[in-house]
Amino acid sequence: MNRLEARSPKPNRELETARLKLRQWQPSDLEPFARMNADPRVMEFFPALLSRAESDAMAERIRSLIARRGFGFWAAELKESRAFIGFVGLHIPSAALPFSPCVEIGWRLDFPYWGQGYATEAAREALRFGFTELNLPEIVAFTAVGNLRSQSVMRRLNMRLQPETFQHPDIPAGHALQEHCWYRLSIDEWRL
Ligand SMILES: CC(C)(COP(=O)(O)OP(=O)(O)OC[C@H]1O[C@@H](n2cnc3c(N)ncnc32)[C@H](O)[C@@H]1OP(=O)(O)O)[C@@H](O)C(=O)NCCC(=O)NCCS
Repeated sequence: MNRLEARSPKPNRELETARLKLRQWQPSDLEPFARMNADPRVMEFFPALLSRAESDAMAERIRSLIARRGFGFWAAELKESRAFIGFVGLHIPSAALPFSPCVEIGWRLDFPYWGQGYATEAAREALRFGFTELNLPEIVAFTAVGNLRSQSVMRRLNMRLQPETFQHPDIPAGHALQEHCWYRLSIDEWRL
């Protein structure tokens, strides 16, 4: 994925949808991000809740990747209230996955903002950015097989479920969340 590192768009590029702004992270995001990362409802399909320090470290990793690449898991902000509601965006997974190298689309929203179409709205814009500005041939998404809400977002984006599941290499062997399914969308399918 050196091509993506080398030909990165302008740093701190912001994206916009009807209701949302997708932007670089800012210090005021850390507190609400830590709150959602400590919420068992939000973290149901992750192996552990995050402490404040772990949450801050994750936000900093995401921020520095966006600064370096010009894209990433952008902070999602409601235009109306300027509230930080979570993240949506594109990421190059560091784990070696059966379909690596790849660019994934992912999302994590604070619980009060579920059920309002925000994840799908933001993800559509992230796909547009990935296909038209990064010229990606394909974008994938993956999640624990039990994470049906996340898979519903993938299906609403017309991503295609792949028949084979895989064991996520970063989750301990035998853990209930280790089995993942994955979806893919090519640029040609996206254009349809
Ligand atoms: C995965 C996640 C982002 C999905 O959130 P979500 O709210 O279900 O998805 P959307 O934001 O696209 O909203 C879709 C829902 O909003 C409803 N909706 C309400 N108003 C809407 C509007 N104006 N436009 C579109 N949909 C709307 C849809 O009907 C749909 O409802 P349903 O859940 O009853 O089917 C959220 O559950 C989450 O953050 N989970 C925890 C983190 C996580 O697991 N991330 C994925 C790891 S791979």
